[in-house]
Amino acid sequence: MEGEKLDQASVLTQLRAIEAEALQAIEAAESLEALEEVKVRTLGRKGALTGVLRNLGDLPSEIRPEIGRFANLVKGTLEHALAECRKALEERLVQALLVKERLDPTLPGHSPTFGSLHPLTQVLDEILEIFQHLGFKVVEGPEVELDYYNFEALNMPKDHPARDMQDTFYVTDEVLLRTHTSPVQIRVMELKAPPIQIVVPGKVYRRDADISHSPMFHQVEGLLVDEGVTFADLKGTLQVFAERLFGKQVRLRFRPSFFPFTEPSAEVDVLCIICGGTGCRVCKGSGWLEILGAGMVDPDLFKRVGYDAERYTGFAFGMGVERITMLKFGIDDIRLFFDNDLRFLKQFQTL
Ligand code: DAH
Repeated sequence: MEGEKLDQASVLTQLRAIEAEALQAIEAAESLEALEEVKVRTLGRKGALTGVLRNLGDLPSEIRPEIGRFANLVKGTLEHALAECRKALEERLVQALLVKERLDPTLPGHSPTFGSLHPLTQVLDEILEIFQHLGFKVVEGPEVELDYYNFEALNMPKDHPARDMQDTFYVTDEVLLRTHTSPVQIRVMELKAPPIQIVVPGKVYRRDADISHSPMFHQVEGLLVDEGVTFADLKGTLQVFAERLFGKQVRLRFRPSFFPFTEPSAEVDVLCIICGGTGCRVCKGSGWLEILGAGMVDPDLFKRVGYDAERYTGFAFGMGVERITMLKFGIDDIRLFFDNDLRFLKQFQTL
């Protein structure tokens, strides 16, 4: 009993000493740094008071509650004193600044200059998001591509006339800057068995330059392969896509066309969003604007990648991001995208 009482007395004395020392130091603190130092020394992880609190468990159980209560009281007192002193010091700093630097806190601040996403990036993100909601995964492929994937495997052998419209920069006879994102169809199918449901964004390159063609532009490719996929699935998917991108009022037209890697193939038009179909300069009087190429994957491709062409069918599509962005925003010259003219870019600032 005697020893415990002594312990209780000595712990209380210790706590009082810690409190007194800390209060004195807080009072004497002339800077926020000095104050922080007192805080660390007393309440920090290795602080004096923290040490006592941590060792409460070693005290006899009869005195533990009382000592605990007292220790917490001291902690509360010190925290309060620290906060008060911090407020006072901060106030003093502001006052000093006001006097010394003639700071006028009522002046408006300098607003930072915000950057913004390029209009093409904005529309690309929107396109990908729509397809991701429909269950498509985003995949990318190389911009420097083999002739095999860019042409050969897509039913465009060396002398095929379809190559004429897609001249590009050749690194060697067999290595080139890809002219479309379609080669990624083959790359993905080589790596993975069906079902496949992907979209492929990326840069593509062609020897082409005028107000509607740029030697570098962006495409988004789509590929879906599974059992029982039909042209109706393609139409439904593209209809939903167009409605989400252009609005519910959008009208699509599927025109029979030809691509070497789809059979049948179609080009898809939207009713001109500028004139509503009556005919204008943008749609060249036709009332329709082409936005993408599409079709059912040619079974030749399946055979080439080792898929069972009797069991699987699929659809594919490819669209130009610049084209779609120009339609969406009413931009009439593709070169504006790449001039880096802030007067143009600022019109698409979202922040
Ligand atoms: N790769 C074609 C082009 O750049 C576009 C295209 C057409 C992609 C039909 C497709 C498709 O996937 O099925 O002109």
